[in-house]
Formats: sequence, structure tokens, C-alpha cells
Amino acid sequence: MNLIFVKNYEEMSEKAYEIVKKILIGKKNATLGLATGTTPLGLYNKMIEDFNLGNVSYKNVTTYNLDEYVGLSTNDEQSYTYFMRTNLFNHIDIDLKNTHLLDGMAKNMNEACDNYNKMLEKADIDVQILGIGGNGHIAFNEPNEPFDSVTHIIDLTPKTISDNARFFTSINDVPTRAISMGIANIMATKSIILLASGANKADAVYAAVKGDISKNCPASALRNHKNVTFIVDDAAAAKIK
Ligand code: PGA
Repeated sequence: MNLIFVKNYEEMSEKAYEIVKKILIGKKNATLGLATGTTPLGLYNKMIEDFNLGNVSYKNVTTYNLDEYVGLSTNDEQSYTYFMRTNLFNHIDIDLKNTHLLDGMAKNMNEACDNYNKMLEKADIDVQILGIGGNGHIAFNEPNEPFDSVTHIIDLTPKTISDNARFFTSINDVPTRAISMGIANIMATKSIILLASGANKADAVYAAVKGDISKNCPASALRNHKNVTFIVDDAAAAKIK
């Protein structure tokens, strides 16, 4: 794995965009795997800034998102579809038809999972962007998730629910289940960039980089990927430096 140390969130976002831009320039019809949360926002801002400068186009780009809360509609401000539209898609020239997100309101969740897995089999994602949970989760694959999992429904752990409560009016409003790509789907992508910023990620980064490759830390699975880059800022790297 490649491990890149940066000073702070801003540098992390710049470095991530440097890699993403190379892919976008090299392949007009690139396929991006996208994440939500606070971590990738800086990267998305760089993507928008550079698009506004006329340096890149997303006209032929396809995207797949990692996950969605179960029970939130696409218009709910806490849904990841809403997040992606307001924080990225509405500001670039991407065709929304080429953006793929999981449906947290699907009538038949098993069918929604199967359909996403079928799409992912053909997707050939050039680069998957990932954050890391305070408990080492990637997407919503919580500790003890098998490494061969594909898209499925997940019960969120109390740690993830409390970490994500900051986005909701009350912790009781945080959905307790999510629909998420599995670890095997993530491992099938051509390259991966995991971003980590802040002291609250230091334990998870330590477990992912220096701990055993084990289900206790889903992000540790990434060490078996042939092309994975961790971009970690000073605070998140405190325990591995
Ligand atoms: P965050 O979440 O970017 O909001 O910290 C990361 C994650 O849970 O994967």
C-alpha cells in the first residue's frame, strides 16, 4: 500500500484531487466510486473549483456511491443522494443518469442489493474514494463484517450512530440500518484512495495500517488490495508515525 502523510485536511484534499485529476484527464469516461461524510467534502470542492476553471469535464464520467441510510428518501436532507447532489453533482457537468446510488426506500431491499451487485460487476471503477469510520469501518461495513461481503443491509453500531448524530437534530433521528457496498465490492475496484483526517481517526488508522489484517478492522482488508493509497493527515497519523 502507498501511505502518504500530509499536514492537514486541506493538504489531504489537494493530494487526493491530484490523483483523481490524473485519472479524469487520462480517461474521459472514467468511473469514480464516491463516498459521503465530512472527509471527502474538501476533495469535492477541489473537483468543483477545477471544473469551474474549465480544466476537467464530467460529461462522460460515471459514478457509483458506497452506501445509503435505510428509510431516508432521496429528498431527505440527510440522505446520501441529497448529499451528493448538493455537494458535487449540481456543481459539475455530470449527467445524473450516469450517477448511481443505493435506494434507502427500496420496497424490496434484497432485490436492490442484487441489482447493485450486478451493476458493480460491470462497473470497473477506476478509483474508489473512501473515508474511514472511528471504528475502522469502510462504507458502512462495520467491524466483524466478512471480507467477502457484497452489497447488503447492515445494522449500524452504536459508535457509528453516535459519530453520525452530528448531522441530525437528535441521535434518535439517526437511521439504525444502512444499505452498503460490501468489502468484496470495494476490493474489486481498480484503485482506492482512503482519506483520514483528525485525531478521532487515529486509532482506526493505526488498526488499519499496523494492526492485524482482521475483521475487527474492516479497513485493514485494504492492505490486500493491489493499488491502495492512504492519505493521512498529522492528527490521524499520530499513532503510526
Ligand atoms: P466522516 O465519515 O467522513 O464523516 O468522518 C467517514 C466514515 O464514516 O467513513
